[in-house]
Amino acid sequence: MSYEDNARIINDDIFDLVNEVFAQERSSGNIERRVNFFDTYNDYFVLTDDGSYSISSKEINHKVETLHTSTGAISESFEKFIRPMKFNYDEDIAILDICAGLGYNSSAAIADFMKHSKANLTIDMVEISKATFACGLLVPSPIPEHDITKKAIEDELIKQDYAHVSLEKAEIPENISLNVYIEDARQTVQRLDDNAYDAIFLDPFSQNMAPELFSLEFFKEFRRVIKDDGIIATYTSSAPVRAGFIDAGFCIGLGPIFGRKQGGTLASPNPEMLDYSLPKNDEIRIALSDVAIPFRDPGLNNDSDTILEARTEERHDARHNTKISSAVKTPIFLGDEMDDEKLKRRVERNLKKMNIPSTTSPEAFYIVEVEDDYREKQDSMNNSTYRILEMKKRLEKVKNGEIIF
Ligand SMILES: C[S@@+](CC[C@H](N)C(=O)[O-])C[C@H]1O[C@@H](n2cnc3c(N)ncnc32)[C@H](O)[C@@H]1O
Repeated sequence: MSYEDNARIINDDIFDLVNEVFAQERSSGNIERRVNFFDTYNDYFVLTDDGSYSISSKEINHKVETLHTSTGAISESFEKFIRPMKFNYDEDIAILDICAGLGYNSSAAIADFMKHSKANLTIDMVEISKATFACGLLVPSPIPEHDITKKAIEDELIKQDYAHVSLEKAEIPENISLNVYIEDARQTVQRLDDNAYDAIFLDPFSQNMAPELFSLEFFKEFRRVIKDDGIIATYTSSAPVRAGFIDAGFCIGLGPIFGRKQGGTLASPNPEMLDYSLPKNDEIRIALSDVAIPFRDPGLNNDSDTILEARTEERHDARHNTKISSAVKTPIFLGDEMDDEKLKRRVERNLKKMNIPSTTSPEAFYIVEVEDDYREKQDSMNNSTYRILEMKKRLEKVKNGEIIF
């Protein structure tokens, strides 16, 4: 089984149908089924709250996700991926769109760029599934700029002998260059130039479905290809993802909240590009808890189950050794008086294994006093990344008995 067969792509039924419709177009030149696809198979498309359409993923481990939030597929692109960027519209802009799917994020970037700039825009769109890209041709365009993206996708699908007839009539403006890669993003990224991108949109399915697209090693490639002032945006607030960015040499900050309870994540080599700190408890968990052990994919070729299993094992080894146990959310109680005696006993049992006698011991205060300077608005001196790294260092000193209180 190839990685693509196993990867988290669109629902099997629609996947088979789309492949069949394009196979027929190739063999007979007949475009009728493509033209009528959306009306005929409307049930496969999920209408989101802003009127744009999404589709569902394959069922994996009894889980199905849609490609976008129900709050609004195209609104999500603008809110999560465009709004946090700090593009200099006087200069050329280069964007890497990972998991391009129906092409909404790239289309939002084109719309934003055409409104603000006369310079050049390059977008490299990467998507593993031809059928998913083909679905992008079949949905009604939520914004006019989606027609430009469709044109680039169709050209590549014809080049790769998946589609046969050119139906997309939009012209790609001369100052916009769209490169379409249809393969595993982990392969693509290794061939990209150093220091090339102003922005990376990272939009995979969730970490339990696609941990391979959130790994430390994948992020190290991002560190190589992104410019020093570049920004990565992703929707997840996950601790292992945020920890992975820091281990790969990025600073991190809070991303916009849209269709979720918590804000996403922004990462940049330059802390000044990131306006907002993570919530305090998120910083503490990333610095101290085994929940923040990142996903690892050393050769950028492991399957998702291998990555998830290896992480579970690593978490187990780290607990009570280099990390405080995440059980009963132990680390977030450091520095707090606790009233609940039963919970307190459990928390302090975990802490003692790390040489921290209690939640209010000098050791506990020493580790989390870093948070006394917490500010929601961050800058180059006062930011989440600095605090996380400092707490991590302090925990190590306490555990190794390097500090006597
Ligand atoms: C949440 S959807 C992305 C939605 C998309 N950004 C859009 O604007 O429509 C995730 C996408 O990741 C793709 N994908 C899964 N594994 C991949 C991989 N290894 N490399 C590239 N794309 C992948 C899926 O086929 C799916 O289209």
